[in-house]
Amino acid sequence: MSGFGNKDALNQLPDALKALLDVERHDLNDLRSFQTPNPNPPFDERYLPINCDAVSLPCYLIERKHFFTYSAPRTPPACDTFAGERVVFPVHPAEEGHYSRFITNVHVIDGVQFGLRLWAVPTSSTRTMLVWPDGNGRSAYFVKTSLFSNIFGNRRITRRKIAHSIGLSSLVFDSKQTLPAGLSFFHETHGVVPRAMPDAGVIFRAVPTELKKGEIRLLPLFSFLNAKHGRMSLFQKMLLGNPCNAVNFFEQCLCREFARIWLSLALGHGLLIECHAQNLLLEVTPDGATPLPRFWYRDFEGLAVDWELRRALSLQGPKMPYGEDNTYATLGYPHFQSAWCKWKISLYQYLHFVLHALDRVVDESQALEARRAGASCMRITRVFSRQLRRLVGEEYGLAERDDYDIYEQPSRFIRFLMHVRRDVMRAGRTATLLAPRHCQCAHQPQSKR
Ligand SMILES: Nc1ncnc2c1ncn2[C@@H]1O[C@H](COP(=O)(O)OP(=O)(O)O)[C@@H](O)[C@H]1O
Ligand SMILES: [Mg+2]
Repeated sequence: MSGFGNKDALNQLPDALKALLDVERHDLNDLRSFQTPNPNPPFDERYLPINCDAVSLPCYLIERKHFFTYSAPRTPPACDTFAGERVVFPVHPAEEGHYSRFITNVHVIDGVQFGLRLWAVPTSSTRTMLVWPDGNGRSAYFVKTSLFSNIFGNRRITRRKIAHSIGLSSLVFDSKQTLPAGLSFFHETHGVVPRAMPDAGVIFRAVPTELKKGEIRLLPLFSFLNAKHGRMSLFQKMLLGNPCNAVNFFEQCLCREFARIWLSLALGHGLLIECHAQNLLLEVTPDGATPLPRFWYRDFEGLAVDWELRRALSLQGPKMPYGEDNTYATLGYPHFQSAWCKWKISLYQYLHFVLHALDRVVDESQALEARRAGASCMRITRVFSRQLRRLVGEEYGLAERDDYDIYEQPSRFIRFLMHVRRDVMRAGRTATLLAPRHCQCAHQPQSKR
């Protein structure tokens, strides 16, 4: 199926955003593997990213008293979420039925009557849509909606998830000056949830200004993996075109630079990102051909925090805008609250869904020879392991003797890191990794933030 919705409306978007959307919708790696077969209730497949162009987004203006509203105090807002005393409440077009009772029980003004005509196009996540007012693509923002169908598991955005996402986005925004230089964030600035439907909220996420202005280009990491339907993945193209560049890319960018970022976040800030191939994006040169060593992270729902370490380092605690008891608990089960578990999940996401997936791309592709020619026959997971171990030695003076692949023995490495963490917490020192470093990659980013 293809061509549902309005293709022309996409031309209202700035070029860099349009290019990103094209990849988000057509270079997904195996979206079906994330889906539940025959979900109940069924999901209207016209709204899957691959099937859907721009559609009009149902949007209602509803009195503020009917909502819990959350906003990050200092973060520039993604969009106007209030029209006077009314909340602007968008609803996923496939899920309007679920809100019908709420809509009829409160006094509602249809957004269109108010002159608010919004276009929406799904991103790779399906429930998160890029949204913009008709004729004004430069004002685009992301809206993460609640999905009631179980197509991707439970995709409802509860009140707690909203508070968690906005609170942590705010904390990260406030820490911007000290966070590793090679990582930026798509900030989640607002969230609203009906008091009568506390599991059916919406989060508003900003599109980076640099992207709207066309100063940067971004590619989600999954686009380096996708090799389906006769299309080569970007990584395969790189391997075939210029193996040295490809090797340089994975060694310097995906291994060395990301190891530095991950370690700095984990041990310097107690921040554990959910770093799979959909949540991480890479900057690329304006022609889209060459990756730069700058990562972007989206999705604060998946961010876990090591509060104990933050306390030891005298960093901002959980008393952010909405410090209810379990607001910043993650995934909702007690075991996950241990630092060990948060670390392992975060690291394993990257090792499995990014690096191991790339190793498989190389193995499966005709480009195996090219990889050999690139003077590295080593698994990418092993290259990353070496880089991460070397960094721990350099920064914390603690080294492991054995040269093993962390992907194969993640618990062993996390056990070792827990010793380092204990020392860091005892000393209460902030990691030297916090200082931005000159990056060794072949290509330098064009703009500094
Ligand atoms: N390579 C991928 N890895 C993980 N999720 C993917 C990938 N490609 C597509 N997805 C989709 O993205 C969804 C996760 O994104 P989600 O958390 O819903 O939104 P967002 O990241 O915008 O907050 C998954 O449920 C899956 O449907
Ligand atoms: Mg995500």
